[in-house]
Amino acid sequence: MKIVIPGGTGQVGTVLQRALSAAGHDVVVLSRRPAGRGEVHWDGATPGPWTKEIDGSDVVVNLAGRSVNCRYTPANLREMMDSRVHSARVVGEAIAAAARPPRVWLQMSTATVYAHRFDAPHDEATGVIGGAEPDVPGYWAYSVEIAKAWERAQESADTPHTRKVALRTAMVMSPDRGGVFDVLLRLARLGLGGPVAGGAQYVSWIHDQDFVRAIEFLVARDDIDGPVNLAAPEPLPQRAFMRTLRAAWGVPVGLPATRWMAEVGAFVLRSDTELLLKSRRVVPGRLLEAGFTFDRPAWPEAADDLVRRLRGGRVG
Ligand SMILES: NC(=O)c1ccc[n+]([C@@H]2O[C@H](COP(=O)([O-])OP(=O)(O)OC[C@H]3O[C@@H](n4cnc5c(N)ncnc54)[C@H](OP(=O)(O)O)[C@@H]3O)[C@@H](O)[C@H]2O)c1
Repeated sequence: MKIVIPGGTGQVGTVLQRALSAAGHDVVVLSRRPAGRGEVHWDGATPGPWTKEIDGSDVVVNLAGRSVNCRYTPANLREMMDSRVHSARVVGEAIAAAARPPRVWLQMSTATVYAHRFDAPHDEATGVIGGAEPDVPGYWAYSVEIAKAWERAQESADTPHTRKVALRTAMVMSPDRGGVFDVLLRLARLGLGGPVAGGAQYVSWIHDQDFVRAIEFLVARDDIDGPVNLAAPEPLPQRAFMRTLRAAWGVPVGLPATRWMAEVGAFVLRSDTELLLKSRRVVPGRLLEAGFTFDRPAWPEAADDLVRRLRGGRVG
């Protein structure tokens, strides 16, 4: 198949591009700064010669969006919103204008669209969309607004010949340098992998190989459209998540951090505490219902595998 991945130069795109190319597909990545073979220029906002890549392709997986790992300043929040909405909109326009539109458009979304919650997991049917929780910082609602606007940009695209799926994805764990797993493991190795603010908040995650398999599954299954949760079936509280990660690497202790220590840490790392403190308890209702099986459903085995691959030499 010919598969086009706008925004495919980042962490998730690297995982996907590598796996899909190895499987023999013709993969084209759209980037604002194309560097290597298979990368084509676009600006993420307006049509251009890049639309030729979409016309006649089989699959589009749009991953473009400014990284959320930053301080949530007004300017950064605006860029997080615009980069997602504008890129999804222009991908939709390119598909709508194509003489031979792709069969399926998988649009990245996020597990953050769901409410901060401890008591029950969110699946697609019964999950509660966030933004109205009474006991969280007001600005957290903006991340939900971004996610909703991102999904609306896909939903509202007039692409009748192309199936549309929104990927409500949890943290994708891969051994690549600079990815989420790498960052969390580094903190754990520094002795900082303890509970944050009590550690009861849930962490939703997905192993990189299951992420790729889920994408392949969704490409193949013509009967699935709309929002789909891409998360392992066993999210767990942050305290247990980090304890397991420490055990996988062999780090004996992890210092606990209070909420204000997390604030200081996030400030130093130019990041935001929402990424650490929001409880994301998200489960893959539709994938399981459709018969998808996870190779790494549980965090201990997934963490062991990631550590083994990382110790065996970086893949990326
Ligand atoms: N990593 C995760 O675990 C995870 C989980 C859930 C959802 N997501 C979402 O999945 C997408 C990919 O994640 P990632 O971790 O691979 O992110 P990433 O490493 O930050 O890569 C995102 C890509 O988007 C492009 N981009 C950045 N700013 C842009 C802008 N203003 N306009 C157009 N394109 C822009 C960049 O490509 P160029 O610089 O080459 O143009 C970049 O390579 C993101 O939207 C992220 O929010 C990620």
